[in-house]
Amino acid sequence: MCGECGGTSLAWSGKCPHCSMWNTLVEETVERTSGPPKPLSDDSRPMAITDIPAEGVDRMATGIEELDRVFGGGFFPGSMNLIGGEPGIGKSTLMLQLAMSVSSGSTPVLYATGEESPGQVADRARRIGDPGDGLVVLPATNLEAIEREIEANEYSVLIVDSIQTVYSPDLSSAPGSVSQLRYCASRLLSLTKPRGITSFMVGHVTKEGSLAGPKVLEHLVDAVVYFEGDGTQSYRLLRVAKNRFGSTNELGVFEMTASGLVCVSDASGFFLRRDGADLPGAAVVAVMEGTRPFLVEIQALTSHTRYGYPSRSANGFDSRRLPMLLAVLEKRCGMELGSQDIYVNVAGGASLCDPGADLGVCLAVASSRLERPVRKGIALCGEVGLGGEIRPVAHFDRRLSEALRLGFTTLAGSALENQPEEREGARGFKGICSALEQLLDEPAEGGFRV
Ligand code: TYD
Ligand code: MG
Repeated sequence: MCGECGGTSLAWSGKCPHCSMWNTLVEETVERTSGPPKPLSDDSRPMAITDIPAEGVDRMATGIEELDRVFGGGFFPGSMNLIGGEPGIGKSTLMLQLAMSVSSGSTPVLYATGEESPGQVADRARRIGDPGDGLVVLPATNLEAIEREIEANEYSVLIVDSIQTVYSPDLSSAPGSVSQLRYCASRLLSLTKPRGITSFMVGHVTKEGSLAGPKVLEHLVDAVVYFEGDGTQSYRLLRVAKNRFGSTNELGVFEMTASGLVCVSDASGFFLRRDGADLPGAAVVAVMEGTRPFLVEIQALTSHTRYGYPSRSANGFDSRRLPMLLAVLEKRCGMELGSQDIYVNVAGGASLCDPGADLGVCLAVASSRLERPVRKGIALCGEVGLGGEIRPVAHFDRRLSEALRLGFTTLAGSALENQPEEREGARGFKGICSALEQLLDEPAEGGFRV
């Protein structure tokens, strides 16, 4: 069974036939259960959809703004949520902050820790805030110990950190294996759901086959979020991969500080720390992450190739898309780039997948090549086609208002479709060449100096 995707293979193989990952297949023995089949439970009878009463339960807001945003305003009582992410990214910190902010005398929270000792958890809790009442820490890796505690006392929230350390003695396979993970999670689900306990399972994303990844639980739980970020940067992004109760487009931004995770509500301001704003090679793009507009700076550097083959490097931008945009600049605008090493970097460590960033990349490269800075007050958004045409992007209005809010005077985009020029601050271009002509300033005198 594959520890990454949960797919199965009957043969020994180095590569999973389903997700093509290497060394993720591990042997799992399935034990046959004896005895008569269990009778169906009483609630498995058909009902007309109109006869089913509305559940009408209120979401539970955590008070952590970015977390609530990602979950569409809060959690549904009784839901099971999975928090995935690489080790060390801050999952335990986030869960502890969540536990501390929702726990109270009337909302008791059980924090089952299999990785850290209760002392470590308590120390961390004291460092990031006031632990308050109602938060119970249970050092446990045995599923039965967690189950006993849930049955013995009334809890509103259960946090299991991490699900890979929990095992059930009913199965012979090792803790963290696919079958243990699935079995433990479904046993916990059948215990928490009927009691209305909201549960959070922490799952490490690992590249090794011996430990199953959180992906094998995705089908079972109500919501899956992944905590991402670059270990060398302080920002962390919370992305939704699945949400049975809301949108999967939302994104939460946090900053890891000495006293825990802090919500970053002004995400554009955070990514757009501009010191060398008017230098050639810098362009600001308005991109969307889910329903949220962001402004980030794209930087490009072109320099004469000294060692034969010109190098192209993209950091935070699709490295297969960059050569395509360079070819468009060469072919449609006659810009000579074949003798240049080209580096593109998204400042602040953000990673862009919105095609609306194309125009900004083209302008940044051209700006560096021609030593002409992008005109003041201009932000950009537009997809660039192979013909050099600038194509419209979704949610232009939201990008425009974010750009204006941050003090830009103009958002340059496509002249095609729903982007009329009448809107204050909006400016449309048909093709990349006219955009370059009008949006790049005169060459800086004396060239580029820092
Ligand atoms: P952690 O929550 O333990 O990560 P995970 O559970 O995903 O493995 O956090 C890991 C990192 O966060 C750790 O290297 C230290 C850092 N950190 C801070 O910078 N500030 C803090 O207040 C805390 C609690 C952690
Ligand atoms: Mg942890």
